[in-house]
Order: sequence, then structure tokens, then C-alpha cells
Amino acid sequence: MSLNKEIEKYASLGKGKKYIIYSMGCQMNDHDSEKISYILENMGYKPTDNKEDSDLIIFNTCLVRENAELKVYGQLGALKHLKRIKQDLIIGICGCMPQRENIREYITTKLKHVDLIFGPNNIHKLPQLINNHLQTGKTEIDIVEDSREILEDIHYNRKYSYKSFVNIMYGCNNFCTYCIVPYTRGRESSREPKNILREIELLAEEGCKEVTLLGQNVNSYGKTLDNPVTFAELLREVNKIKGIERIRFMTSHPKDMSDELIYAMRDCEKVCEHLHLPVQSGSNILLESMNRKYTVEHYLSLIDKVKKEIPNIALTTDIIVGFPGETEKDFQDTLELVKQVKYDSAFTFLYSIREGTIAAKMKDQIPDDLKHERFERLLDTLYPIFYENNKKYKDKIVDVLVEDVSKTDDKILSGRTRTNKLIHFKGDKNLIGKFVNVKVTDFKTFTMEGKIV
Ligand code: 5AD
Ligand code: SF4
Repeated sequence: MSLNKEIEKYASLGKGKKYIIYSMGCQMNDHDSEKISYILENMGYKPTDNKEDSDLIIFNTCLVRENAELKVYGQLGALKHLKRIKQDLIIGICGCMPQRENIREYITTKLKHVDLIFGPNNIHKLPQLINNHLQTGKTEIDIVEDSREILEDIHYNRKYSYKSFVNIMYGCNNFCTYCIVPYTRGRESSREPKNILREIELLAEEGCKEVTLLGQNVNSYGKTLDNPVTFAELLREVNKIKGIERIRFMTSHPKDMSDELIYAMRDCEKVCEHLHLPVQSGSNILLESMNRKYTVEHYLSLIDKVKKEIPNIALTTDIIVGFPGETEKDFQDTLELVKQVKYDSAFTFLYSIREGTIAAKMKDQIPDDLKHERFERLLDTLYPIFYENNKKYKDKIVDVLVEDVSKTDDKILSGRTRTNKLIHFKGDKNLIGKFVNVKVTDFKTFTMEGKIV
């Protein structure tokens, strides 16, 4: 049965009712939350920000770091009281957490007020799960641990009319030793290019100007298809779609980053001058024990090539501090690397033990205080680099897609440059979704200010 028929069948279940989704973690989850909200609103549910007022609360969870997991337990625990006074409140949990059997067991035994437990592969079953729960009053569990079957015809509500995420692949085959994702999202599988291109064409017809192609490792896109296609080839096809003006993608893996891709980025005028290339560590010893399958030298050679072909590229990365066995020398190597690359921005993480991964069993876990101390030193090194990069924009005119209006002053707008820099400037809110030229008048570590010209 198609998703729309499924929704139609249960179209009145949410009439007069309200829902709230708490979305945690990566952009995959944010996009899945847009799919959930499409389903719920087509069942008659209306969104609310207030949990006391809601009839359905869904946690779309992340398992990448422990604090995200603990936060969900805290929030679920706090809802016990609300559920006691509002017995027909439905509480659901989806995303990465329920993909792990031990977590499902914990939820079903210790958090009995949770009514729906489902995974990222079962979002389309939500109407049926809600219906079953309403009929039986029992906890509904629907999980597929490793699905290579890709469901097409999945619709989503878009938070922004002018930009959208587009899944190009699911899962991950890399098994970096610290990461839980291969155990929650299963093996890698790519969507057929024709389905991706059709989706983007429809988005363009609806007025969408920017797409972000999503996958855990977009550089290995297409390998699992019957007729393999490379990510570079896909980019060149997306670049031809009329109406789309900017193309972004997340996330890349240095081991699979090909010259062909660098050339496609250079040649495709719609592909933005921004590359997010997670390095994780600047030490070859740690890269090896992280199972990253590249060396610092290889990474730096990629950066050189990218900078040569796309001189105004902005580079961002992910870095983990305090991986098991990290010595002062390994950490120094990371500081050296960030100075050499001169990143525009970085997501920095304290290593977090994830049960079930190889690194969780490694000896030489780093004490928390040392992790924190190194983390602070990493930020002290990174921030002046970000600042220096932004300084280069002073007095330049940049092409900005207007994205939002300030919450405190409706005459201040914000938008992003092609290099993904956030910039604030004065303007009318009907410019949202349009492109404007902005002259950069000031800059800070993370943002810039400007004037429309
Ligand atoms: N601890 C800390 N950071 C992690 N990441 C993934 N797993 C862990 C972990 N166990 C980070 C990596 C990855 C990003 C999405 O999250 O840097 O690139
Ligand atoms: Fe995790 Fe590595 Fe896969 Fe990224 S590439 S999702 S860090 S296992």
C-alpha cells in the first residue's frame, strides 16, 4: 500500500489533536522529522510547541554521543507525570535509539509509558502504529534492524520553502571504531539516480532554490546500485536541474573523496564552495585505531587539491578529542593539522563511549578532565583561525540566500553565503527565499554583518 493510501485510511485519527516532535542529532534525523510531520498533519494532527497541550509527543533520537541519549531518558522520565494526568497522551520514540535491542528492552521494561517504538525504516508505518495503539492500548513496536529496501514516494513537510534536504543514500559501511551509526542505520544503500533527480525537479517546480544531498558518506554513493553511478556523476546531473541554484552535500569521507568529485565541484556552477570533510584526528596512530583508512598526509593532499581547484573554498570538519590512547603528542598533531588546513568552522566532540562499538572496549580510555582540558585547548586554537578566515570577507560583496528574520527585530535578516557563512543585515522580510548581494561590513568568529547593495 502506498504511503498516501495508508495515510488516507487513518486520515481522521488526528482530527482536533496536536503533536510535537523533538528532533535530535544529525540532518538525517531533521529530515526524517519532516517526513513524520507530513504524515501526522495529513492525519489531521496540528503542530504545537507546548507539551502540556499535545496529544502526541515523538522523540526522534540520536545515539552518536552519550549525552544525547541521557537527555532523552531524562525527558521521557519527566513525562511520566503528564501521562498520569493525561492518560490518552501518546508518547513515541524513533530514530537511532530504538534500533538497539538493549535500549528497546530498557524502554519496554523501565519506561512503560512509551506507547510507540519504531525505527527510521518504519516511519511510513506510523498511521498504522497509532491506530493499533488506540485500539489495544498496548505499546506498539516496529523495527527493521537492517533494511536495504528503499521506500520511495515518501513525502515530507519542508521547514523552509526555498531549501530542502534530499536523501541520496542510507546507512554506513565504514565501521569507524568509535561510531554507533553502522549498528543503528544498517548497511549502505543508494537511491536510484532517477528517483533523486525526479524529487529535486519537483522541489524546483515548487520554488526550492537550494538542495542539500544527504548521506553518511556521499562519496561512496552509487556503489550498491545495479548500474553503479558515482557521486560526481550525480552532482553533474543535479547541476542541470532548472530552478535549483545551490547544491550542498553532507557528509564526505576522506578515504572515498575522488579527483573526479573535486573536478565536478569545480565545474558545476551550482555546487557551493564549501566542503565538510571530517578529519577526526591529526595523528596517524589514532586514525588507524579509529579505522578511518586514510593518513594525515593523504588528507592534506586532498585539501591541497581542493584549494587548488576551488581557490575560494570554505573547509569545515569534525574532530574528536580524547579518543582512547590519545597521547599529548597525538593531540599536538591535531592542533598542527587544524593550523595547517585553516578551517572555516569545525564540529568538535569529546569522545563518548558507545556500547557495542570497538573503541568502547579499548584500553587507555582518557580521563574526563584531560578530555575537557584538551577540548578547551583545541577551541583556543580553532577560534582565531575561524576569525582570520572571516576577516578576509571584510568589504567584499557576497551572494546571500536570505533565510530568516531575527526573532527580536523583524528588520534584521539572516542568510548564508555560498561558502555557508552566516551573515546578518537589514532588510525587508519579504526577501526571505531570495538572493541578494551583501557587502560585508563587520565580522566575528562565527558570524558576519553586512549591508544589502
Ligand atoms: N564520540 C564522539 N564523537 C563521535 N562522533 C561519532 N561518534 C562519536 C563518539 N563516540 C562524531 C564524529 C562524526 C560526527 C557526526 O560525530 O566526529 O563525524
Ligand atoms: Fe560513523 Fe564513520 Fe560511518 Fe561516519 S563514516 S557514520 S563516523 S562509521
